[in-house]
Amino acid sequence: MKRSIMFLVASVALIAAGQARASEPDLFVAKCGACHKRGGQAPAINPADKAGRVWGKYFRRGRHPVDLSSSISEDELATIIQYLKDHAADSDQPAAAVIPK
Ligand code: HEC
Repeated sequence: MKRSIMFLVASVALIAAGQARASEPDLFVAKCGACHKRGGQAPAINPADKAGRVWGKYFRRGRHPVDLSSSISEDELATIIQYLKDHAADSDQPAAAVIPK
């Protein structure tokens, strides 16, 4: 009995640690893909859709047509923008199919 409780505590701790460190592509798919997916309310998007400097300016200049502040924190948005730039069309590792079109 005691052993299974220990196991349960350890498992929950591992799951919590995993969630705290959600990977960048997962964050992009979860937060942006909520709308930008095939069949979603907005067209599917991927990092390689734009050049790095375009991604850099896009949110800074408030170009996004929908206010995302209630669903995406500033930290999360900064992480996603860095991910988009790192895998933009003109990057070393463009990512074209993270969200299937
Ligand atoms: C609440 C839904 C929603 C979320 C979440 C969302 N968007 Fe959008 N986005 C839209 C809508 C609606 C449009 C306008 C689509 C159109 O013009 O047909 C749009 C437009 C865009 C465009 C311009 C269209 C294009 O292909 O150039 C980009 C780029 C974009 N979003 C990026 C993002 C990124 C990056 C995220 C995540 C940080 C995100 N969006 C999260 C709804 C959303």
